[in-house]
Amino acid sequence: MNNQPVLEIRGVNKTIRGKKIIQDLSFEVYPGEVFGFLGPNGAGKTTLIRMIVGLMKMNKGDIVIHGQSIQKSFEGAIKHVGAIVENPEMYKFLSGQNNLVHYARMFPGGIPQSRIDEVVELVGLKNRIKEKVKTYSLGMRQRLGVAQALLHRPSLLILDEPTNGLDPAGIRELRDYLRRLAREEGIAIVVSSHLLSEMELMCDRVAIIQQGKLVDVQDLRGEGAAPKETSYFFEVNDPATAQAVVQEIDPHLHVTPHPNGIELTIGRERAADIGALLIQAGLRLYAMKPLTQSLEDKFLQITGSDQIA
Ligand SMILES: Nc1ncnc2c1ncn2[C@@H]1O[C@H](COP(=O)(O)OP(=O)(O)O)[C@@H](O)[C@H]1O
Ligand SMILES: [Mg+2]
Repeated sequence: MNNQPVLEIRGVNKTIRGKKIIQDLSFEVYPGEVFGFLGPNGAGKTTLIRMIVGLMKMNKGDIVIHGQSIQKSFEGAIKHVGAIVENPEMYKFLSGQNNLVHYARMFPGGIPQSRIDEVVELVGLKNRIKEKVKTYSLGMRQRLGVAQALLHRPSLLILDEPTNGLDPAGIRELRDYLRRLAREEGIAIVVSSHLLSEMELMCDRVAIIQQGKLVDVQDLRGEGAAPKETSYFFEVNDPATAQAVVQEIDPHLHVTPHPNGIELTIGRERAADIGALLIQAGLRLYAMKPLTQSLEDKFLQITGSDQIA
């Protein structure tokens, strides 16, 4: 991610009737990544999305899309964005194809048929596109909405709670083609959800939002995902000997003794070495596990277990 961000949220604040809905939010989204807004209901995800697409003004801060401020140059910024905020408006008695043609006409300068064919292919609706939308499943309507949002070749696609109402197969489909869109087309995709499990499967990174504040941005893939140094727990038959062995190898290493093992703050490779040395020293090594706090632990800590549906 050495390239320029597609979306920059810079110190954004929103107050509605004296209530702080969004507070000092700042983070960036890059090309080719699927980025999640994760937070319980009422956290402010939709409000933030509405501000990004210009449906609502902010009180303080700025939102920058491809280097253009949505406050100072709205047209220049918004032309890069495709979004589904509320349910996409579809004409049920028209075919998917005709819905897209109708929508394409609204763009100044128009959109060529070849682009319509392209987006239909992209979201995998090719063999049903001539049929009426009323015969579509929810998942297919969702995909038609995405096709519509992609018509003008946005480099930022924003979907608010896109999995709502989809069955597990539909969710999986959505996940697969969103990831493909990000990978193959280099589009930055923002999705919001209150469900951690979905975000873990769908996103490269997530911003955890609670009561309008940014709790954390977590990297779920790639290099940033694995912490370089973490705590490792070595479960052994004789913790006192294990501690002595480790201190002989490296007197500077801090060892935390436990009744059934020892804990060390070290990297992955080093942990493997130490495991081998403990065995060489004649100890029984029953287990070796990283003690990082998982995203789930963190999310539960923040939101309370009642929020995980
Ligand atoms: N137009 C509005 N007027 C008053 N309060 C609002 C308005 N829009 C959102 N809110 C409040 O802002 C908070 C965040 O809402 P929302 O952005 O919809 O959260 P989320 O999408 O994360 O569930 C909620 O407390 C909600 O009641
Ligand atoms: Mg919402």
